[in-house]
Amino acid sequence: MKFRPVLSSDLPLLYAWRNDIGTRKTTANPGRKVLWPEHLNWFKKVQPDGMWWVALSEESENGTFPIGHVRFHVSFNKEYPTAWSAVANVTVGPQFRGCGFGTRIIRYGTRKVWETTDAFRCLAFVKMNNLASSKAFAKVGYNAVDKWQGQLVMEIRRGDGEPASKDIWPS
Ligand SMILES: CC(C)(COP(=O)(O)OP(=O)(O)OC[C@H]1O[C@@H](n2cnc3c(N)ncnc32)[C@H](O)[C@@H]1OP(=O)(O)O)[C@@H](O)C(=O)NCCC(=O)NCCS
Repeated sequence: MKFRPVLSSDLPLLYAWRNDIGTRKTTANPGRKVLWPEHLNWFKKVQPDGMWWVALSEESENGTFPIGHVRFHVSFNKEYPTAWSAVANVTVGPQFRGCGFGTRIIRYGTRKVWETTDAFRCLAFVKMNNLASSKAFAKVGYNAVDKWQGQLVMEIRRGDGEPASKDIWPS
């Protein structure tokens, strides 16, 4: 798997993933579809402050194609005490879920946070019934540390479970 920073040309795909029913079930209001202008405004607002990567499939004769994305915002959640924290958000394309990609994408994004920011921890806010998400974060080393507004708060701290050499982090 390869990764690259998000591009504005990814917007239609991010929009499709955001409105997919499996993704909406993980939000506060699953019945509501986001409208395109709303999506554009949201992207304009959060894009400059976040760290984003798009995960691409392994290269084949057909080239690569996006399979998921991860983004982290340092201290993004203003209501939860998140100082010096990077808050994760991850989506895998509906047709690629359950194949281990989510775990690999979260691992990559978490490593990038350690490499490129001063954040001392990464947090994920996971709906209680979102087993795929809580398991994927747990496999990377995140621990459930709190419950907040019906969500599980999962945390990994800098240095937790880090392998001795960066070279052995799978991409
Ligand atoms: C959550 C998400 C990113 C996980 O990525 P994924 O590629 O589907 O997950 P993985 O294949 O890496 O699986 C991680 C673990 O969850 C398990 N899992 C996967 N799908 C599952 C499901 N539907 N129900 C229960 N467990 C599931 C896997 O078996 C694996 O555990 P295991 O190794 O013990 O078997 C992805 O499903 C997704 O994009 N969902 C919609 C958006 C979302 O929920 N985002 C996160 C918001 S916090």
